[in-house]
Amino acid sequence: MKVKHVRGISDLGKKGIQEILSLSDHFLEVSSRRIPKVPALRGKTIAWLFYEDSTRTRLSFETAAKRLSADTMNFSVSSSSVKKGESLRDTVETVSAMGVDAIVVRHGSSGVPWLLSRWTDASIINAGDGSHEHPTQSLLDCYTIQKQFGEIEGKKIVIAGDIKHSRVARSNVAAFKAMGAEIVLVAPRTLLPVDTTSWPAETSQDFDASLRDADVIYMLRMQLERQKETFVPSLREYTNDFGLTLERVKKLQKHSVIMHPGPMNRGVEIASEVPELENALVTNQVSNGVIVRMAVLYFLLGTSADLPEGNGSNE
Ligand code: CP
Repeated sequence: MKVKHVRGISDLGKKGIQEILSLSDHFLEVSSRRIPKVPALRGKTIAWLFYEDSTRTRLSFETAAKRLSADTMNFSVSSSSVKKGESLRDTVETVSAMGVDAIVVRHGSSGVPWLLSRWTDASIINAGDGSHEHPTQSLLDCYTIQKQFGEIEGKKIVIAGDIKHSRVARSNVAAFKAMGAEIVLVAPRTLLPVDTTSWPAETSQDFDASLRDADVIYMLRMQLERQKETFVPSLREYTNDFGLTLERVKKLQKHSVIMHPGPMNRGVEIASEVPELENALVTNQVSNGVIVRMAVLYFLLGTSADLPEGNGSNE
């Protein structure tokens, strides 16, 4: 399957997701080598355009590119000509003119990756656009669930928290649905999108009832920086009704797992001790982020001739 961009999950569909998950297994093996580096993207150049802060996404993309031997072009809004008023389009065209094969972009406005793909010949990878999509987070979440259960199909996934402002929720609903999961969105009405009729998911305000038969409990961060008004009476009340407390964890099925994309508001949507529990996969998600982003970069820029042998050695 040949795909030019990963702007949203719809650029991939089920077939693209499956291909990236399969490539991720390959790069898991590469990452376990003594020297976890292969020449698969030698000669390719990738630029990072992060207009919003990031820890996990940016560092994992940078690590992924290094492990694939790609050259990278770092762009920092705070030290660039954006500070002098240079427009997004001029910035992208300037970066493109230097010769890049892919641009990884994070921006506070929804739709920016689609705009960029009209202004450059480079492949565009969405690292998060406003409250719209975050497809590579979803791919690493799919990979984490598949590794845990063997498959995603038929699993009941409860996504709980600030769904209204969450790009992770939007991409995850699309990706989990494509992979055959049953999805329940749990949030106070004020933190659900105004109209969820087109969302392929049930909605509920009863967190405790939804947890009973869930296979995956996917907690979302309360995105206070995107909230322009007050959506809950108090954070304490929100935690009481929708926080994943230790008491709630005790009532989960034995095989259930807990996920969170990070950064976490410990003590708000998730109790401080929960991410450290054995059934919490938060650290697995971060580790899988590097592997899956290697797969995404290779999927867009590599050729099968460059795919490293799975012989467990590069010595
Ligand atoms: N999950 C996620 O996107 O984290 P960062 O904001 O740290 O990249």
